[in-house]
Amino acid sequence: NEGALWGARFAGGPAPELVELSRSTHFDWILAPYDIAGSHAHAKALAAAGYLEPEEEQRMHEGLDAVARAVADGSLRPQPGDEDVHGALEAALIAELGPELGGRLRAGRSRNDQIATLVRMYLLDHAQVIARDILRLIDALVAQAEAHPDAILPGRTHLQHAQPVLLAHHLQAHGWPLVRELERLVDWRARAVVSPYGGGALAGSTLGLDPELVARELGLERPAENSLDGTSARDVVAEFAFISAMIGVDLSRLSEEIILWNTREFGFVTLDDGYSTGSSIMPQKKNPDIAELARGKSGRLIGNLSGLMATLKGLPLAYNRDLQEDKEPVFDSVQTLEVVLPAFTGMVATLRFDTDRMAELAPQGFSLATDVAEWLVKQRVPFRDAHEISGALVRACEEAGIGLEDASDELLSQVSSHLTPAVREVLSIEGSVASRTGAGGTAPIRVTEQRAELVARAQAA
Ligand code: ARG
Repeated sequence: NEGALWGARFAGGPAPELVELSRSTHFDWILAPYDIAGSHAHAKALAAAGYLEPEEEQRMHEGLDAVARAVADGSLRPQPGDEDVHGALEAALIAELGPELGGRLRAGRSRNDQIATLVRMYLLDHAQVIARDILRLIDALVAQAEAHPDAILPGRTHLQHAQPVLLAHHLQAHGWPLVRELERLVDWRARAVVSPYGGGALAGSTLGLDPELVARELGLERPAENSLDGTSARDVVAEFAFISAMIGVDLSRLSEEIILWNTREFGFVTLDDGYSTGSSIMPQKKNPDIAELARGKSGRLIGNLSGLMATLKGLPLAYNRDLQEDKEPVFDSVQTLEVVLPAFTGMVATLRFDTDRMAELAPQGFSLATDVAEWLVKQRVPFRDAHEISGALVRACEEAGIGLEDASDELLSQVSSHLTPAVREVLSIEGSVASRTGAGGTAPIRVTEQRAELVARAQAA
């Protein structure tokens, strides 16, 4: 094979089954622009060290530009005999410049330091796209919160009615994990902007090439400190896969609620026609497929992370071919998030909330019982007793088949002499919500403050 990167020490060519197994061009071709950027940088380092004359360097850059154009316009495609993107692009460069000049570029580098660098460059670019998409989703949640400042829904624990909360508070509760994902991406970036280029196959180079120059050219902050580590560690890739999986989990939690809210039983939301799907047999159906796909794809994102971790476990230093298996899972995570996030944001932005339905359900299930207990504490009843009294009132109302707010003066005083008619001031969902003014609480004034903080944190990330 003319274009192969190795072969001289072998008696014959590789077996066809090996070629099939070994080939990675069907997934690593998307790294072609990064590979070419790496080659431009490497040509500069070779020239700076005296291995390319200025005129040769010039022609090298022109040759690489021609290869880049051919990749971009699709006229250069990987051939069946190409093992990987690196080999295919070198063969194209040699076809462009001839073996005398084209064959000089590989000095002092290896596919091992190349690939470790290129995957970082790819992820750094896509981290920006994903961060932008997350910011848009946060904006959509914040806009819905702003549009419904007074709406109250039943807050739940164990999926049971617990205490009434503001819809805005609840929506913002889905915004905060997303803010932390943005912050995680920023933290991750500090570890990702390192360039393994120059580490060679594993041990570094004898040629005196400047790794700082290469890192700078590639928009990375510094060379890897250790060539063995630089060429073989993939924790930066795994960390990215973790952040992706965590984003999937965030979306899945909200998906589950939207799916429930969209049922006839809840009736809290209506999905926009453009963001829901129909059934091939049941004409009346309007299904929350975006939420279901987001929930389903979170499983795939978790699988990508765990598959990658399993690949990395137990690998001795330094490069092993197993590491070629890092790319498909993390590329899939990137591509998955880049299609899920925009659709998900559209769905959230166009949700219509039935706030009357939410308000109707909010006081049900004795969700104001904690308010009664805390009102008693304010009357100086010990909380232990207050809890008992409020519990007894719940039981009495349950037996009478009424809500707490319907208890008569007689019933109240029968349950406890501490339960004067004044307790009714906390027996409304608005009163309950308004009184929760503690830090992070659901009182409207707190929720408005928290929204400003959420927006500021998202923008700072
Ligand atoms: N395509 C490989 C990868 O993705 C890089 C090639 C390294 N191959 C080798 N035999 N050292 O990891």
